[in-house]
Amino acid sequence: MHGKIEKGDEASVVTDYTDADDSDAMSCARSDSDIEENARDLSSGFLFRKSDLKVSSESATLLINEQSKYKEANGETVYKFGFGQSPFMPPDFVMDEFAERVSHKEYSEVAGLPMLREKVAQFHNHYDKLDIDPKNVVVGSGSKILIYAILSSFRMANVFIITPSWVSYEPQADLARLNTVRVDTCYEEGWRLTPARLHDALSVYSSTADPSICIFNYPGNPDGLTYSGDELHALAKVFREHNVLVISDEIYGLLHHTGEHISVAQYYPEGTIVCSGISKWCGAGGWRLGVSLFPSSLQNTLKPVVVGILSETISCVASPVQYAAAKAYSLCPEIDTYLHHQRRILASAGRMFYERLTAVGVQMHMPTAGFYCYLDFSPLAAALAEKRRVTTSYDLCGDLLSRACIAVLPGTAFGAPAGLLSARLAYVDFNGRNALAASYETPLSESLDEAFLMVHCPKLVDGCKKIAQYCTELADK
Ligand SMILES: Cc1ncc(COP(=O)(O)O)c(C=O)c1O
Repeated sequence: MHGKIEKGDEASVVTDYTDADDSDAMSCARSDSDIEENARDLSSGFLFRKSDLKVSSESATLLINEQSKYKEANGETVYKFGFGQSPFMPPDFVMDEFAERVSHKEYSEVAGLPMLREKVAQFHNHYDKLDIDPKNVVVGSGSKILIYAILSSFRMANVFIITPSWVSYEPQADLARLNTVRVDTCYEEGWRLTPARLHDALSVYSSTADPSICIFNYPGNPDGLTYSGDELHALAKVFREHNVLVISDEIYGLLHHTGEHISVAQYYPEGTIVCSGISKWCGAGGWRLGVSLFPSSLQNTLKPVVVGILSETISCVASPVQYAAAKAYSLCPEIDTYLHHQRRILASAGRMFYERLTAVGVQMHMPTAGFYCYLDFSPLAAALAEKRRVTTSYDLCGDLLSRACIAVLPGTAFGAPAGLLSARLAYVDFNGRNALAASYETPLSESLDEAFLMVHCPKLVDGCKKIAQYCTELADK
């Protein structure tokens, strides 16, 4: 099948979330067709109308994974660059600890085992040069639920979300019934939030009594980019001036390709909650353990409310996972080396995508951390419209999937306007265990070239070539 993804196609699930019309259901405004549908619901014995429900659906990143699996089941090779899951395994000694602790069936303290919180504080204080008190570490079933628990602690707030940014922030703020405010960024400014844009957005709301919360994520999903110390310092001044609570989602911080992540909490300690966890740097997304680092200024106000919400919802993270995580949060050469090898592989892959794709006209910045890059096909817009009838990022991803078997997520999933021909690529489709083992054979002083990727991450190289070919064909007269 060639061409766009059509509604009703198996492929349409790719962006079902982005198609959902939140505003209708949230405001309970009822159109004629809603009334008809509600009447049908009630007559068939349902207990509520569709419009009585909040809007929520599976996040777009999970859906594209399903779609890729479907194509593979049909015998096609899909380059699975849609779902942002770490390709690496947790270190063996961490997995051994998990297995050994499986008999720990007891509940723990809601905020996490004290010994784990102690280790998390030590670990982040070391790597991020912070001064977090272990009692201000709150552990949860992934950083996602921690961010949601922080948001839902507020009766009302204005939540500033930077565009583009991770798919779940806006739905979370909506579910918490908070007001969301989008702050745009652009390619020319490296998709970075600038102090001027931040100041302008905050100023509009400065006369309201409601608190301001900024969800600030870097290294970034979808862009793989970060901030310098000077940039963070300048942003911190604006945060302080406007009394903003910053939820700093630094879950990719330890995967900064040269290990130079700087936490904004260094510049704005009193107003920043840092969120992280073992999903990305430790390859354990499915274990579901995240951490939040509260400043002492919030230890008797916001923190107990967040812990209360966790107590009424998750109770605690699975105990064996907490023991295993305590091993992972060790300041030891094994973990340090493990991080260095992951970073080196990811740096090499990011560089390859950058070099090959910019050469064929895609706009992108060289990723500096994590495993994403954000592709902007705008320079090819005329050819895409003329030859493929592609005018939106949704169409673009459909076309890439159907013609080149490339699964990437459309920019709309990250809040970008539909007409911006952008997509997030996650360069994770390789066997991380094998690649890591091969990297350990090469001294860390050397960088890994494309020959390494060809052998150990072949789908990255082939998929990258396929995207390049797709672009070249478009450009051909
Ligand atoms: C930016 C960002 N924040 C948070 C998360 C969620 O992480 P966790 O597995 O800790 O819930 C993800 C996962 O993809 C992410 O990309």
